[in-house]
Formats: sequence, C-alpha cells, structure tokens
Amino acid sequence: MIRGRAGDGVEKRQCAIAPYCIPPAATYNLTVKSSRSAILSRVRLCRSVLDAIGNTPLVELARITRGLDGTIFAKLEFLNPGYSKKDRIALQIVEDAEASGALQPGDTVVELTSGNTGTGLAIVCAAKGYQFVAVMSRGNSTERARMMAALGAEVVLVDQAPGARPGQVSGEDLALVEERARQITRERGAFRADQFQLAGNARAHYRHTAPEIMQQSGGIDAFCDFVGSGGSFAGCARYFKDCDPAIQCYLVEPEGAAVLAGQAVTRPNHKIQGGGYAMRDLPLLERDLIDGCLQVSDEAALEMARRLAREEGLFAGFSSGANLAAALQLLETKHGCDRIAILLPDSGLKYLSTDLWP
Ligand SMILES: Cc1ncc(COP(=O)(O)O)c(C=O)c1O
Repeated sequence: MIRGRAGDGVEKRQCAIAPYCIPPAATYNLTVKSSRSAILSRVRLCRSVLDAIGNTPLVELARITRGLDGTIFAKLEFLNPGYSKKDRIALQIVEDAEASGALQPGDTVVELTSGNTGTGLAIVCAAKGYQFVAVMSRGNSTERARMMAALGAEVVLVDQAPGARPGQVSGEDLALVEERARQITRERGAFRADQFQLAGNARAHYRHTAPEIMQQSGGIDAFCDFVGSGGSFAGCARYFKDCDPAIQCYLVEPEGAAVLAGQAVTRPNHKIQGGGYAMRDLPLLERDLIDGCLQVSDEAALEMARRLAREEGLFAGFSSGANLAAALQLLETKHGCDRIAILLPDSGLKYLSTDLWP
C-alpha cells in the first residue's frame, strides 16, 4: 500500500498488491485530513503518543494451530498505548469532530465506555488538551477505571441493574450508563464521542486496522470478530470485502446472548467484557457484511485466552479468547476458511482482578 507523503496532511490509499486494487467504498472517504502522518511507524520518532497508535504486529498462531489445516493471524491490539484497539477509534472520532467543528479547544468530551474506549479517549484528550469524562458500569473491571483516572479522566461509575453481578455487564446495565452519559453531556454542553453512532469508529478500522492486516498477512480467507458496538467488525469487514468480496466475515456473540444470530437471550450476564450486549440494533453494523454468526461460551473464551498466554506468549483479554475460539470453530468446520484473521482487542492486564487469571 502506498500512502501520501509525510507532511502533506492528506492520506491517499492506493493498493499496490495485486488482487486488492478495488476502489474503496464511498462510505469511508479515504482522502481525509489527518494531524497524524501515517508514514510514522513504531520505529520512528513520534511527535506525541498519538503517533504510537496503530501499526500493531500481526502474529501467526503457529503453536495453537499445529496439526490443523490452516492458519490464524492475530492482530496484537493490546500493544496500542492504552492496551486496546479502542485507541484507534478514539483518535479518529476526536479528529473527525475537530475537522467538523463539533469539538473546539477547551471543550469537554464525554463517553460511555466499558473501559477501553474511555482509556483511548483519555489518552487522546490528554495529548490534545481536552477535559474527558468517562461514564462506566460498576460491573466492568476496576483496573480500567483506575487507568482512566490516572490518565486525567473524570470517571463516573454507574450502579448495575438490580440482581446483576460484577464482571457481567448486560444490555440493561449499559442502558443505565447511556442515560447517565446523556445527562452529563447535556449538563456540561460537552461533545459526546458516541462510539455506537459515530462513523469514525468503523472508519478507524477501515482506514488502518484492516489495511494493516492485508499488508502484513499477504491475504486472508476469513475474519471473525466479537461484537460490542460493531465498529471493528463493520470497518474491517467493509475493507476486506472491498479488497476481495470472497473474504468471509463472521460476527461473534456470547452463547445465550446471540441476538444478531436471531436467537433468544437466555444468558445476558456472560463474562466476555467489551461486547455481547444483546442489542439488536447496532447503527454501525451493516447487515450485508455478515456472512455468518458464531457463538462462544464463557468457558471457551476463558480457555482460549489462557491458551494464548501459555502457548503463544500473548497476554490478552476475554474477547481475544472469544475471537480465537470462534476462529478455531471456523477452521475446523468451514471449507475454504484456511487463513483467518482475528483481533486481540485488549490486554490481559486489564483483567487481573477477574477469574480469567486465577
Ligand atoms: C475488550 C473488547 N473486546 C471487544 C470489543 C467490541 O468491539 P467493537 O465495539 O468494535 O464491536 C470491545 C469494545 O469495547 C472491547 O472493549
């Protein structure tokens, strides 16, 4: 892939690798002013932490797939400065808002978060000089709240719905957090960095995560992704299908809360933090991108996160385990899905207080 010259402030994507020359979707305008020069990478001097976001390594899980027919590529999103993929969307959403004038110097940014988007926004707001208020359910792990506070964010914790258990955040819990985030945004006249609504969420993955995967892997047959807002799935799947419509894209949900697969909710309080909220309507998730839905149990997500750590030396969270469990399902059951890409969305360090690491 060739991009615009450093310093011209404009990125132009042209695919240099043969079958990936299909023009990008109009949905995600790729000629975008960016304060960040894409040419800067991890091995170059960064002008700020913002330049250290993205360009994460892609690792072949050769030990876990030994003896199986096929390959799984894992994108190490826990190596972003906030230890999650959400740094990417935080930067994109803030830069989009600056470009449109929705965010002005001195403004406050508010967002509902399970911790990772909040950490990304705390980093971006610290580097750019905005106040940030993170609104989070008490059901999410405490490490996240403490990290956001350390980064200068004001953290507002919202009680879970009656009967809910810590570590198991349901759609009902999330509705309470949403209500509070709206109230704070109104009261403070703040900019709401709404990851469920703003196209910048999906666009960050369309512009960066997925092209990086294509370039690093040399090509894939399938992608599967555990869905929260649906931004990662939508942005990556759109890019993959623009490159090659034959690439199969599967979304991943918790067993017992697989509403996007059309199933009834029997277990809303699963352990896979960051998604699986059993929300039928996800504005960023375009249905034409979905080739199929996969379900993963808590037990499988935990086991696979632990195997990632033990066998591959990759210390990641619950949803990374869910993505790996789903990719192994695909590898074992779907003909033609031989090279599968997954994200490892965040770090295992964020779950030291949970039963993921006994
Ligand atoms: C750890 C983790 N995994 C997965 C997801 C889901 O990602 P997306 O919102 O892009 O669907 C999130 C979202 O917050 C997350 O924090």
